[in-house]
Amino acid sequence: MSFVRILVGNVKTFANPKFIAVRQFASASSSYEFIKTAVVGEKNNVALVTLNRPKALNALCNGLMTELNQALQTFDKDDNIAAIVLTGSEKAFAAGADIKEMQNNTYSNSIRTNFLADWTNVTRIQKPIIAAVNGYALGGGCELAMMCDIIYAGDKAKFGQPEIAIGTIPGAGGTQRLTRVVGKSKAMEICLTGNMIDATEAEKSGLVSKVFPADQLVDNAVKLGEKIGTHSPLIVQLCKESVNTAYETTLQEGLKFEKRTFHATFSTKDRLEGMTAFVEKRAPNFKSE
Ligand code: CAA
Repeated sequence: MSFVRILVGNVKTFANPKFIAVRQFASASSSYEFIKTAVVGEKNNVALVTLNRPKALNALCNGLMTELNQALQTFDKDDNIAAIVLTGSEKAFAAGADIKEMQNNTYSNSIRTNFLADWTNVTRIQKPIIAAVNGYALGGGCELAMMCDIIYAGDKAKFGQPEIAIGTIPGAGGTQRLTRVVGKSKAMEICLTGNMIDATEAEKSGLVSKVFPADQLVDNAVKLGEKIGTHSPLIVQLCKESVNTAYETTLQEGLKFEKRTFHATFSTKDRLEGMTAFVEKRAPNFKSE
């Protein structure tokens, strides 16, 4: 009898496929307060993480970020997951760090707790993360989307770094990642005015790679995850690392890293399988080896 894996909170279990559709979605969110998780896609190999704090427009409180990091790390270790889609609601991907939680924070406490340092864990995930942004992606919400590897947006999405309007500056990469993506002039304008840009402008400036009607966004992000899932997970991981290196080093260092990583693919069985399958005119059978 064939069994299909489903995810119940953080616990892997196995079930008869005929119960999958219901149980996958009904039970997956039960152990989290601020997010929902599910395993989706035709091959059950795409993780869907949904920020779920609707009354605060998914403001990124400490509890939410702890849960998000936990879920991402769990999926990252799961060999059956090829890619992760991170989304919010149609009204908000996330309206930023939680201002109410930050209101009485102090400098000394920020230093003692290394405030927001744990957000960087999102960038340590080895599997591709696709942000599917509907509605507001503001402040930390925009920064969280930029920590992901690919951003798809719904046509009503709005991006911005409005921290300046509440007496602070972006603190989770807004002045750095946004500047690398859209260039100095546009990043300055966004950060210094606090004005939002819409999905069309975000696409034009390279912040997002594609825009979809809001109700088709998550489906398209999952399809993208499925497409990535047709490739060797091992090589996908190396490729993600190499693209990310472009952000973190000089061109010469990046090119050297890329070349050595390219060379390293020749030590893998998946590289041999991929090229052999091409020559033999058949589909490759990757084993992540
Ligand atoms: N933190 C905490 N609560 C928030 C929030 C946030 N970032 N954004 C929205 N909320 C809450 C509101 O306080 C409100 O709660 P109550 O009903 O309890 O009052 C609820 O969500 C709904 O919000 P609004 O009534 O304001 O909804 P709106 O549709 O009128 O406006 C909005 C939407 C334009 C997004 C507006 O909510 C807004 O401007 N939010 C703040 C955006 C912001 O400044 N983000 C940056 C935060 S700082 C940061 O992120 C630092 C960093 O770099 C990490």
